Order: sequence, then structure tokens, then C-alpha cells
Amino acid sequence: MTEFVQLIYASKANFKPNLTGGVDKEVARILMQSRRNNARRDVGGVLYYGDGNFFQCLEGEPSVIEKVFGKIIGDSRHKEVRVLSRRKVPNRNFASWSMKYVPAQEGIRRMLKNNGFSSFDPYKFNDAMIDQMMGILSGADDPTGGAKRLKEAGLFSWFLSFPKKWKIGLGIGLTGLVVLIIWTVS
Ligand SMILES: Cc1cc2nc3c(=O)[nH]c(=O)nc-3n(C[C@H](O)[C@H](O)[C@H](O)COP(=O)(O)O)c2cc1C
Repeated sequence: MTEFVQLIYASKANFKPNLTGGVDKEVARILMQSRRNNARRDVGGVLYYGDGNFFQCLEGEPSVIEKVFGKIIGDSRHKEVRVLSRRKVPNRNFASWSMKYVPAQEGIRRMLKNNGFSSFDPYKFNDAMIDQMMGILSGADDPTGGAKRLKEAGLFSWFLSFPKKWKIGLGIGLTGLVVLIIWTVS
């Protein structure tokens, strides 16, 4: 039976907040890059960003996770990376997600309040709070979409990572080419 590693860490953003349309610009860039890379490597997980702090869970083959995490640790977009939990698991919690993104929401605010927190500070989470956080993230929606099924996304990840304008342009170009071929042979 395959064993997976589930690694959860906290870190602090090294950039100033820049909100446009709900998701921070820099976080959106990190997400796009993560989804493209993770789909290729069959890595999955979830990312949460609140009050300048990240909470990320990574799941996948042990050696792959260590490699990806090595890259993440060295990323200058965040600092003070601290592992909150690292364990072997028989099944993945986020098997369908290359990197799910959950924005700040009521469930998390309530969980923080119930535990006496006035802001999102994952460095102070105990094991029970990490479990509660994981439960909320598992059940929450991802309004950003586009992070579905790892294996299928992996096949097309190079295409899915193109900007929308390119995809539309490529679609129009291909249609034109097909019309031209049909017109030439008929
Ligand atoms: C908070 C945070 C989370 C990240 N999560 C991932 C991730 O899940 N997968 C990934 O490949 N890169 C992730 N990155 C980006 C990596 O640190 C690194 O920039 C990237 O893997 C390099 O990819 P490249 O070798 O394709 O340039 C994350 C970065 C930050 C700051």
C-alpha cells in the first residue's frame, strides 16, 4: 500500500497585502505556480492566508513532498517557515486538489474566537486547533476553482497554465486552421 506524507506548516508573508477581487495578487501568483507544479508531481493540498500568515498542507509521495518543501522553504516571498505537523497517512485529505485555496471565512473566524485568538496566528495553534483548521479547510469551498483532479490536470497542466487570452487565441487559431484545411481539400 502506498504511504503518503502530510506536511503542515506555517509561515509569514514577506509582501504587503494587495487585494484585488478577493484574492491577494501575490497569493494568486503563488497559487498558479503551485497548481501547475503540483499537478505534474502528483502533489496536493490546501493553502490558507490570513493576517499575513500562511497555513499550508502538502500531501503526496514522501520523497516528492520533501523536494517540494525544500523549494518552498527557500522562497523569499515568505519567512519563518515552521513545520506544525508531519506524518505518514494511508490516504490523502486533498486527493482532488493540486492546491485548494480557502479564503478567510466565518468558520475560521469562529474557530479562532472560540480558542481565544484575535487574529490568525497558526504559530500558536495546538494539535487540536490544527485538526479543527484541517476540518474546516476540507469542508470549505474554493472560489478560485481551477485546481481540480491531480492526474487529469497533470496531463493538461501545461495548457491550463496558459493565460486565458492565449487559450482563446489558440482556440480561434486552431479553428481557422481546420476551416482552411477543409476548404483546401474540398
Ligand atoms: C506560501 C507558499 C506556498 C507555496 N506552495 C507551493 C506548492 O504547493 N508547490 C510548489 O511547487 N511551489 C509552491 N510554492 C512556490 C515554491 O516556493 C517555488 O517558488 C516553486 O516551487 C519554484 O518552482 P519552479 O521550480 O517551477 O520555478 C509556494 C510558495 C509560497 C511562498
